[in-house]
Amino acid sequence: MFKKKLFFIMLTIVLVGCAHTNDPIEAKIDELLSRMTLQEKIGQMNQLTGTGLSKDMISQIKSGKVGSILNELDLKTTNELQRKAVKESRLGIPLLFARDVIHGFKTIFPIPLGQAATWNTQLIESGARVAALEATSTGIRWTFAPMIDIARDPRWGRIAESCGEDPYLTSQMGVAMIKGFQGKNLSDPTSLAACAKHFAGYGATESGKDYNTTWIPEVQLRDVYLPPFKMAVDAGVATFMCSFNDINGVPSSGNEFLNRQILRKEWNYSGILVSDWASIDQMIKHGVCNDLKDATQKAVKAGVDMDMMSYAYINHIEELVKSGVISEKQIDESVRNILRLKYRLGLFDHPYTKEPANMPFYTEESLEKAKQTAIESAVLLKNDRNLLPLNEAVKSVAVIGPLSDSPADQLGTWCFDAEPSHSVTPLAAIQNLYGSKVKVIAEKGLTYSRDMNAQGIAKAVLAARKADVVLLFVGEESQLSGEAHCRADISLPGAQSALLTALKNTGKPVVMVVMAGRPLTIGKEVSEADAVLYAFHGGTMAGPALADLIFGKAVPSGKLPVTLPRMVGQVPIYYAHKMTGRPADKMTMIDKIPVGANQTSLGNTSYHLDAGDGPLFPFGFGLSYTAFHYSGVKISKNSISQGQSITVSCEITNTGKFDAAEVAQFYVRDLVASLARPVKELKGFQKISLKAGETRTINFTLNTEQLAFYNTDMINRAEPGDFQAWISTDSQSGKPATFKLL
Ligand code: BGC
Repeated sequence: MFKKKLFFIMLTIVLVGCAHTNDPIEAKIDELLSRMTLQEKIGQMNQLTGTGLSKDMISQIKSGKVGSILNELDLKTTNELQRKAVKESRLGIPLLFARDVIHGFKTIFPIPLGQAATWNTQLIESGARVAALEATSTGIRWTFAPMIDIARDPRWGRIAESCGEDPYLTSQMGVAMIKGFQGKNLSDPTSLAACAKHFAGYGATESGKDYNTTWIPEVQLRDVYLPPFKMAVDAGVATFMCSFNDINGVPSSGNEFLNRQILRKEWNYSGILVSDWASIDQMIKHGVCNDLKDATQKAVKAGVDMDMMSYAYINHIEELVKSGVISEKQIDESVRNILRLKYRLGLFDHPYTKEPANMPFYTEESLEKAKQTAIESAVLLKNDRNLLPLNEAVKSVAVIGPLSDSPADQLGTWCFDAEPSHSVTPLAAIQNLYGSKVKVIAEKGLTYSRDMNAQGIAKAVLAARKADVVLLFVGEESQLSGEAHCRADISLPGAQSALLTALKNTGKPVVMVVMAGRPLTIGKEVSEADAVLYAFHGGTMAGPALADLIFGKAVPSGKLPVTLPRMVGQVPIYYAHKMTGRPADKMTMIDKIPVGANQTSLGNTSYHLDAGDGPLFPFGFGLSYTAFHYSGVKISKNSISQGQSITVSCEITNTGKFDAAEVAQFYVRDLVASLARPVKELKGFQKISLKAGETRTINFTLNTEQLAFYNTDMINRAEPGDFQAWISTDSQSGKPATFKLL
């Protein structure tokens, strides 16, 4: 028995070996590795931030001590540094230049959370392609995006960079971005290697404070946080990045379970795993390593291939290998992963970037895509008396609010290379595009989102009085979300709420447009405004997009990728919650409790005395200028066996007067299982365009793999029993049909 096993092991080793040598890239890696000294190998694992053509950087490149440089942007500089690596280092291994190109390079698209609100994967892919075209023209071939952390806490500033709360939607968006960045073939000079980050669980950060601890049970990790990363591997993502947080006490940069067991063994990933900025070093502060040498050992053991800015590998690997603590084989594995990407990107054959006659920035086509994405990312939350789109009776508008004309803020977080001078603000767009139709009265009122200036409010009120309709642009400055920019109070900052109330008191209809990096608690403001568009930070073309929506040239089709809470105390709040043993079917609110009432647990249910239960607006919600009617769903079979699939369909009719797009959402519920399951889970969506009056049948296919979840033995399978399935316009509506898994 043992001999038989040994034979098969030997056979596998031989076959894998042959596979290596048969693959031209692996053969090249083998050959190059055989010529590399240990120091040169370690050099490949070292990523440094750019310092231009500094003497120190040049000398490190020449001596083979740098594998990758981040944040170097000038084409002449990147080409010159590359020349040093290729011509003046012993082995001539090219450098790989990296940058955070998160939602655009020069032409800025909506923040990723806004992009997710489009539910339009093709559009998102084309936006990432624009970013790749622009960024690669400066020599950058690696972006640290997409961020596919599941984010269910709007206090966390990095929710802006996420695709929201849902594993399925995030997976689809992540794959679209990866495809757009990487293009059809990595070796194309306009392809940008993508990076699935942050691996993993970063969004579960306690209290929504960045870099904080997370506690994630393995079933939740595997069911909620990991699926987008697995999808990224399947889509061929070139790189992964560790997260800063610890999960259950283990920081990701030293987490063998995550990085070796799951990523490499279970998912068969062969790309680069890079640390986050100084995250290897930070394992000392986490309190799990004594010093940088200890941290180096843990990170290498955990399979982190590249050290971003900890100076850990360059200073300690050699000594750890020489003393036998780390094997050179482990180092070779990492170097292989790094060289593999450099070969796949074609860097050995074409290390330099050609200087284009014109940099491909802000082309008409790119700006048009950015505008379309901004249009589709805006979510219409309220539209009393069909105030929007503004009709011909409106002869004048007062354009008010700190975000009405704030070129930098509308770009949002993480756009280091953006130039606000290229932003078209709502005010500029309304004046330029619609100024011949309506009189535009501009008065910011508050100059920035945190402004408390009462005199400004008084001026805004005067402007409002002179207009037929008030267009109020509120929200957050770009600096109030993003990395390390978390908030405990997620209401509208400054005196913006007071500004709205003052404007409302003029009696003029108010359209409120929210431009923010996260869900804000705006219950009071939504009840005061007549119409509300939630536009996130919409990027370079936010202004024209919003102007077209307001004046009816475009129809809203965005749907929330994340729940909007009523109060911050409800957080975390998400649609795919569990039922609990006492769902909130009865609620007595705080002001209805008789003074001096005795305590009783009879009739008690799961809710907050002050917030009640449920969100301000649910996941998937978004109105249109038209209306859509959903027929009851039809299911192709009443029962299925493991491995089979069913089709769920319904008819959708555009019953209103506008041609428009609708996002049909497909939800499923597992009614009884060995573990309590979410009350609903998104399993599919389709964005379809329907002319006024048109009806279309849409189908979703569901297989039993999609019903699988991890049980307490960590087995992923669908359990027999009853299920519900339905198709609806958001996560809170729709009538389910049932089927059985035999
Ligand atoms: C962030 C990463 C980013 C890296 C490089 C870190 O602080 O967490 O998301 O890619 O910096 O700029």
